[in-house]
Amino acid sequence: MRRLHYHKLVFFTLMVITGLLLWRCSNDQIKNPELQQEDFHSFAKPYQVVVTHMNLDIKVDFDETQIRGKSSFEITNKTGADKLYLDSRKLMIRKVTLGEREEMTSYKLGAPVEYLGQPLIIDIKPQTRLVNVYYQTHPTAPALQWLTPEQTDSRKHPFLFTQSQPVLARSWIPCQDSPGIRFTYTARVETDPQLMAVMSAENPTEKNENGIYNFKMTQPIPAYLLALAVGDIEYRSLGPTTGVYAEPSMIADAAFEFANTESMMQAAEKLYGQYLWNRYDILVLPPSFPFGGMENPRLTFVTPTIISGDRSLVALIAHELAHSWSGNLVTNATWNDLWINEGFTVYLEDRIMEAVYGEDYAEMLAELGYQDLVREMEHLGRKSPDTRLHLNLKGRDPDDAFTDVPYEKGRLFLKLLEQTVGREKWDAFLSAYFDKFAFETMSSNQFLTYLRNHLIEENEDLAKKLKLEEWMFAPGLPDNCPVPQSDEFDKVEQQISIWKQGTPAYDLNTDNWTTHHWLHFLRHLPQPMTEGQMTELDRAFHFTASGNAEILFAWFMNVIRNQYQPAYDELEEFLTKVGRRKFLRPLYEELAKTKAGLRKARRIYEIARAGYHPVSYHTIDEILDYES
Ligand code: BES
Ligand code: ZN
Repeated sequence: MRRLHYHKLVFFTLMVITGLLLWRCSNDQIKNPELQQEDFHSFAKPYQVVVTHMNLDIKVDFDETQIRGKSSFEITNKTGADKLYLDSRKLMIRKVTLGEREEMTSYKLGAPVEYLGQPLIIDIKPQTRLVNVYYQTHPTAPALQWLTPEQTDSRKHPFLFTQSQPVLARSWIPCQDSPGIRFTYTARVETDPQLMAVMSAENPTEKNENGIYNFKMTQPIPAYLLALAVGDIEYRSLGPTTGVYAEPSMIADAAFEFANTESMMQAAEKLYGQYLWNRYDILVLPPSFPFGGMENPRLTFVTPTIISGDRSLVALIAHELAHSWSGNLVTNATWNDLWINEGFTVYLEDRIMEAVYGEDYAEMLAELGYQDLVREMEHLGRKSPDTRLHLNLKGRDPDDAFTDVPYEKGRLFLKLLEQTVGREKWDAFLSAYFDKFAFETMSSNQFLTYLRNHLIEENEDLAKKLKLEEWMFAPGLPDNCPVPQSDEFDKVEQQISIWKQGTPAYDLNTDNWTTHHWLHFLRHLPQPMTEGQMTELDRAFHFTASGNAEILFAWFMNVIRNQYQPAYDELEEFLTKVGRRKFLRPLYEELAKTKAGLRKARRIYEIARAGYHPVSYHTIDEILDYES
């Protein structure tokens, strides 16, 4: 009896090992979502029933601050299941019907989880191919920001924009909201005839008299790339495949700022292969947009704070454009692998910037990014699990672990690979990677396997030298980390040093300094400084009056640290007008370090909060212990 059990056990163990080995070997070819990692940020069960196409028919109602209408899903039922699981958050579901003939069906909303919303569980039949959900959004849907006319540049018309990444799409459309599930979509959007609607799809370039717009997205995309904006916007072409949308009062400045988009496109295609999304347009949003940019396919959304008048902040365009390969073509399997999107994108961004603006320029960007990473790691603690490339977000809001780590540590890891095998081999590897995994997902493990098979080619010594596992799964920075160093910044440090020794600020040699030289300068000023020193710098270089948001931000950090009163009005104005979290978070954190600062921060926030996007005010609420 015992012997028999023993044999069974041995047999079973062997089967498991064989299975694991087979799985490992075919790992880089996995197409079956059942075998991929579970996405614990979605209630969808795509291994049973998966959405392949969505048709949206909605009305955007500014009076009610509400989107309402119908989303219809074409589905594939793989297992003959009798339920379709969708994600939803704060949605009001009015009814659900099946098929073209719209037969009523029953559904229920499952128990809510704070940041995930609720599963919408719909009764279907094994032969059901079409499911129609009638719904409306909640006025506080976290994907939506409804702006009053006063929050726009012209102050004449309201504005709406969506932000779906990472798990907010479900708050404006019931959907399978997981990066591993791709579907095509069509949409009909009705709104105020004075406004134009645009989406992450084929877009209009003119307003429509009846306020009705039809959209088509023929490439399959995950829900986090669903996007919509409605406002008084105008279109301007930038080149054969690129263009920009902005409020009429800003369109000329925007077109000037982004004039190099077409060259970036050419550089990117040369490096990573054909652009597969037809057009690449940019939409300039009002300043409350909580991010710098968002890579919505065919239509990148950007903050107006990159319009500086001198084209010096356009690396952000290179970044969002690069997502057309890293992220939008090859997509992180779950939010644990955000670095698969962002780390690759920062690396590609650098390469595009290098191709268009030269090596010195790209080096400066890389070093500033490295400084951000070092600061972030100190902030988190070098041993913090959130300093790992592959994150573990189980049980957490993916937004809580949003840091510079996936961006900058990811970039450095890829840079190390480039430096180790040489550009030629590495570039060929990368473009083959995008080609092979286009419209699929990628996890950290899958990438390691693919890397071993196709770049390292079983060279175990090389694998060891690279410390692949440590890079992927350990906190902090491995000791083989490349450290970006810009010679240009040496010049900046020299000038700081002679200023500290007594050379007056206006005698410093700052000829031909770019925005990035100034950022390095502002980040490396001695601390603390006297009011006299701050005044001297401001008189010589006019930081407080700068029209460049990055320079202003870096200056305001010094203003707060040194309690430089003459710039406080401008600081307050900036905090009230700009909703970009990357600026708000450090400024409020710095203010909150002193008692008087905290009081001031709370007073500003009391008024400013109403103008911020939910993404931003959730973060700032915590910093200031704000009870909403
Ligand atoms: N996709 C990101 C923004 C994002 C990431 C939103 C994760 C929600 C969750 C976008 O491409 C991005 O990285 N934006 C950066 C700019 C970039 C130049 C580093 C930003 O907004 O600051
Ligand atoms: Zn990005």
